[in-house]
Amino acid sequence: CARPSLMISDNDPRSSPVLDYLKQLHHTHAEFTGGEVATYIPELAKADPNWFAICLVTPDGQVYEVGDSKQQFTIQSISKPFVYGMALEDNTRSEVLAKIGMEPTGDAFNAISLESDTGRPRNPMINAGAIAAAGLVAGKSMSTRLQRILDTFSLYAGRELTVDEGVYSSESTTGHRNRAIGHMLRNFDIVDGDPTPIVDLYFKQCSISVNCRDLGIMAATLANHGVNPVTGKRAIRGEYVESVLSVMGSCGMYDYAGEWLYRVGMPAKSGVAGGIMAVLPGQLGIGIFSPPLDERGNSVRGIKVCDDFSRHFNLHLF
Ligand code: DON
Repeated sequence: CARPSLMISDNDPRSSPVLDYLKQLHHTHAEFTGGEVATYIPELAKADPNWFAICLVTPDGQVYEVGDSKQQFTIQSISKPFVYGMALEDNTRSEVLAKIGMEPTGDAFNAISLESDTGRPRNPMINAGAIAAAGLVAGKSMSTRLQRILDTFSLYAGRELTVDEGVYSSESTTGHRNRAIGHMLRNFDIVDGDPTPIVDLYFKQCSISVNCRDLGIMAATLANHGVNPVTGKRAIRGEYVESVLSVMGSCGMYDYAGEWLYRVGMPAKSGVAGGIMAVLPGQLGIGIFSPPLDERGNSVRGIKVCDDFSRHFNLHLF
């Protein structure tokens, strides 16, 4: 059935019905106090549970932001779809599919969900698949691979992004489960050579510092077939965007992916620092930032905001 035309077409992001609605949404959910800030990476425990921002960006480059939209936080698992897109660009599709599947697991993000016969991670949104994808990013050395990741993420965001060294070293000190996953992947020849530097690259991609405005623009770049709608620069070849959005749609919210798609109806990706980005292809990108998480590692306010927002504007894809 045809989607009703969106209200999101007004042209003044400082004063508009869209901005008014976002302010109202922010006000309503700012009251909420549920969820817990992530502590398994000690540096993340320093986040203020009251930080809360929403940013909506349209494919014609209008940016609507409310709340703490300039507060920096680490991108964490929201890095995974972007790095998967890079793996698709840097390899043939069959090379990527031989190493990373596309089936949702219904398991937690850090589950060791490998296919029993091949050791192939089931999808690129869980840690195992994301570490495999980091191993597929082209570059002669780990520092050139990291630079390519930073350059690409900066194209998505439209400004230069950097690694938060404090969060990186905190995760590097505590990330033994991810190292174990790296060794499992090496055992099955899903990654080549020593897995330790690849897991380290994954820690660094997770520690890239963004704000909610960046997330909204990055989401809108995916909504706009890979072209950043604010800068006009391409961040990913258009032919790969549908694959990135497909795995976000089926696997982006982990063991909540089914209910998310059922209720909110948009491809999305969450991170344990409290970010969520959601994409409505051709229509909009949205970033939400609120650190308290539910037991699945998804931002509690982020889910509520997207649920209300999708319903209010009738955005469900189906
Ligand atoms: O692998 C980890 O533990 C983190 N660096 C990323 C996890 C994450 O964001 C999971 N998502 N909700």
